[in-house]
Amino acid sequence: MTHIQKHESAIAYEVRKGLLCEQKCLPPWLFYDEEGSRLYELITELPEYYPTRTERGILARHAADIAERAARGAEADVHVVELGAGTATKTTLVLAAVVARQGQCVYVPIDVSPTALEEAKTRITAELPTVNVQPFVGKHEEAFDTIASLGQRRLVLFIGSSIGNFPDDVAHALLAGVRRGVLPGGGLLLGTDLRKSPARLVPAYDDSRGVTAAFNKNVLARINRELGGHFEVDTFRHVALWNEPESRIEMHLESTVAQSVAIDGLGVDVHFRAGERIHTESSQKYDTKRIDALLLGTGFVREHTYTDDEGLFAVTFARAVA
Ligand code: AVJ
Repeated sequence: MTHIQKHESAIAYEVRKGLLCEQKCLPPWLFYDEEGSRLYELITELPEYYPTRTERGILARHAADIAERAARGAEADVHVVELGAGTATKTTLVLAAVVARQGQCVYVPIDVSPTALEEAKTRITAELPTVNVQPFVGKHEEAFDTIASLGQRRLVLFIGSSIGNFPDDVAHALLAGVRRGVLPGGGLLLGTDLRKSPARLVPAYDDSRGVTAAFNKNVLARINRELGGHFEVDTFRHVALWNEPESRIEMHLESTVAQSVAIDGLGVDVHFRAGERIHTESSQKYDTKRIDALLLGTGFVREHTYTDDEGLFAVTFARAVA
């Protein structure tokens, strides 16, 4: 089975499962087709969306220290693996610091978007010619074996607060899975968005230019394109809200009217009440205690947490213990 076929049936499965149930929901990885990846890049440049530029600032400031930690005690070159790499624009900062130490490195970016990975490979190869880029198209879990087969001292990057899409139990299992592919002494660099006032958080997910709304609604357009859906995208409203007890931002798509939507590729009709929502994303917000809880029992131990002056975002270096 090719990647494409496997991928398309995964979409059909998720859409069938997520829309034919009481509490409608769709997994966030569905956002990232070519159009969604393009919109996400635009989000990262929005004035309201602080995470990307804040994390970039942290990495720029501490890249040399991070590379030094990754190399500490290693006998061979450090190889870099990245979960949810996307176009990997921030990664160059870390790779440059690694290359400054050892002259070269293997870099395995993992992502569900082949177009984003192609872009990453082209750019990094041009900027850092001694980095050997070996992209892997797939979901994180699918890449564990590949990670393990590299057989070298590794630094695993899980930056961008991508982990925030997962509830803690799933995130914990994911980190434990990553740990199985890392030798003792290896590193994990984990980026996490921090808890802060909803007055700052909500506009980051409901920007004034409507880019995030378009990003959210693209999942319906994608279902139209790939599964023969008949969504009238404009009959859905983008909703971003702060869920305090769960400490997370949620994104939903709210049907403004009662309607039935046919999805030809699945042979189903999906019914919506006026005001009914599809939960499309959760973005968890952390503090140090929660980061420690996430790592506890995974075989990674938090060694150092870097943050920005405003305390908006955290980058944690954790080490694999024997
Ligand atoms: C890519 C999961 C880190 O949660 O902030 C941005 C995705 N969604 N705006 C985030 C996202 C809406 C983003 N992550």
